[in-house]
Amino acid sequence: MRRIPAAGLILRYLCLLTALANIGGNIGLQLGYPLLFNWLGVPPPVDARLFAIESALSFSMGVVALLIFFDTARAIPLLQIGALGKGAYAIVTSWHWALHGLHWFYLVFAVWDAVFVVIFILYWIYLESRDLTELQQSIFDGIDRPRTNRALIIGFSLTDNGRKVIHQLEAGLRNRGYQSDVIWVVAQESIFRFPMSLMDFVRIILRAFLRRPAKIAPLRVPRDDYDLVVVESPTWLLSMGAPVEAVFLDPANRRLFEGRDAVALAMSRGAYQRTAAMIVRWLERSGANVVAARGYTHVGREPRRLMSLWFYLIFRKPGFPPGLAEPHYGVSQDTLDAIANFGEDLAERSRTRPHWTLLKALGAALAP
Ligand SMILES: Cc1cc2nc3c(=O)[nH]c(=O)nc-3n(C[C@H](O)[C@H](O)[C@H](O)COP(=O)(O)O)c2cc1C
Repeated sequence: MRRIPAAGLILRYLCLLTALANIGGNIGLQLGYPLLFNWLGVPPPVDARLFAIESALSFSMGVVALLIFFDTARAIPLLQIGALGKGAYAIVTSWHWALHGLHWFYLVFAVWDAVFVVIFILYWIYLESRDLTELQQSIFDGIDRPRTNRALIIGFSLTDNGRKVIHQLEAGLRNRGYQSDVIWVVAQESIFRFPMSLMDFVRIILRAFLRRPAKIAPLRVPRDDYDLVVVESPTWLLSMGAPVEAVFLDPANRRLFEGRDAVALAMSRGAYQRTAAMIVRWLERSGANVVAARGYTHVGREPRRLMSLWFYLIFRKPGFPPGLAEPHYGVSQDTLDAIANFGEDLAERSRTRPHWTLLKALGAALAP
């Protein structure tokens, strides 16, 4: 069951809007600009031919936007052309307005085009990683293979949010007949622990910034018959935790993911998207069939939520100092309940995708 994310629909219809505005606006302008310019007090164009050529270029940007709207599968190169074209128009027009006394009327088009440069780039980013948005809202089809109803859950948690999330997921899976083995990643460096000193906090942030890998103990996985593998990670500096990334960096662990359905879980104070994206891409590179990704955030609103995180890291108790910190640290009970439901849905996912490790083996055998 896949839903089309609202962001994608909004961006697509914005493309239709600029298509209609560019196509209709330029036809209208060429037919009636003497009347309109006279009414607005805009001086007539110095060179009518050049004005018509400019209008034709702007019209063609409308056609590009229309093609984007109708054929999203092939929209990315068109979005790049559109962003370049509209960007060039916005820059040239603003330049002439600022330095050569061009009438403000033309600036309206420049602002419109500048806004659509941003919209085109956002839509391009969205289309490049459309699966990530969908994975966060739906459960994709699993691999068609014999059910074992066993899940491997790999997680890392310093302040227990990830731990609570994993226990809820495990409960949901169990309600629908799954048995799970939970494996906690063990970091071998003392900075990755809680409570942490200010210095350790800074070092974790710096290492996340420099993307320096962490050392972890080898994973001790008791079985090999899992049909589902879940990877959970906290967010540190908008990235997945280094100890969890270390699991993927070890080629020996690839066997845990290859040919299995997989789920990415990202814990965060508020910004889980990049962590979820990183886990998804690592799972894919490791040969897994990613069926879902979910990100979870702490209760409360900013900036109190951020302050509550800092206070918790400093004082190590929730709701302190009273009035300043959220009474509860981390994920809400509602979120935890929703995770158990997600676990149940996950256990009952449809399994119709061909087992591509077999297809790959067949392909390799048939290759000349
Ligand atoms: C060093 C550090 C950096 C963090 N950076 C971010 C961040 O960039 N964005 C965010 O939303 N949360 C950030 N957080 C918050 C954690 O992701 C959040 O507290 C999460 O619930 C931790 O999971 P855990 O309780 O399982 O350890 C950071 C926490 C720490 C300790």
